[in-house]
Amino acid sequence: MDTNVQKRRENKKSLRVKVISLGNAEVGKSCIIKRYCEKRFVPKYLATIGIDYGVTKVQVRDREIKVNIFDMAGHPFFYEVRNEFYKDSQGVVLVYDVGLRESFDALDNWLGEMKQEMGSQANMESIVFVVCANKVDLTKRRVVDEGEGRLWAESRGFHYFETSAQSGEGISEMFQAFFSSITDMCENGGKRPVAEVSVGFTKEQADTIRRIRNSKDSWDMLGVKPGATREEVNKAYRKLAVLLHPDKCVAPGSEDAFKAVVNARTSLLKNIK
Ligand code: GTP
Ligand code: MG
Repeated sequence: MDTNVQKRRENKKSLRVKVISLGNAEVGKSCIIKRYCEKRFVPKYLATIGIDYGVTKVQVRDREIKVNIFDMAGHPFFYEVRNEFYKDSQGVVLVYDVGLRESFDALDNWLGEMKQEMGSQANMESIVFVVCANKVDLTKRRVVDEGEGRLWAESRGFHYFETSAQSGEGISEMFQAFFSSITDMCENGGKRPVAEVSVGFTKEQADTIRRIRNSKDSWDMLGVKPGATREEVNKAYRKLAVLLHPDKCVAPGSEDAFKAVVNARTSLLKNIK
């Protein structure tokens, strides 16, 4: 075969991508990567110092993908080291520990740091995100349930996987979906495929469910000031009921949120003259 033709074919088939891992210190980023690349688990905590870099090759359909993995340190101390590694990433593995709520709440901050460091280059639509709800093997200490994690991820068009670097649960499925989406994106001219983001519910619905879950009392849940009138309570209730009614809303957790809103309204109306 003509060597130029052969070269062109090989170029089409091979692809180089850059992926990074993000999340608080000690949530298991390095262990997830180690479990996938080396098929082993290290129980002792060895904090990543700044950045760990590795390369792996994976096969997606007829393409060989050379993946450059930049495993970031989660500790705030290393901000100065990791900030320059955000740019030119095609994929991000966002990790939290299901036993530590603050590591889940921190996901927004990690996205914020990333956007800030990428500056004007920030085009989040050209990056594939996968969220790992990690350490699911430690069932007794779990505080962030699947519905909550999945909602946060899928409402943003991100993949969501329950993982355990310790047992291996979900790890290869997660990386397979991740690399396959990155390949789809590269073949789609650098745009995240549309199918991935159409999850059947809106960001407003997802954000409202999250707000309801985190509300401190019934007033807060309905989004009215303490001491609001019956009319104000009913108005707020109707708006939420339309948004979250189980017949209309398929977002995970919508049924519980809807019930909570009904109960909040009932208890408030009982005490308002
Ligand atoms: P930094 O590098 O400091 O940002 O932390 P990291 O997110 O890379 O955490 P690392 O992978 O080093 O894991 C932290 C600790 O959690 C280690 O003691 C691991 O053994 C433990 N660990 C990681 N994943 C799991 C898991 O799925 N289950 C359990 N039980 N422990 C885990
Ligand atoms: Mg690490």
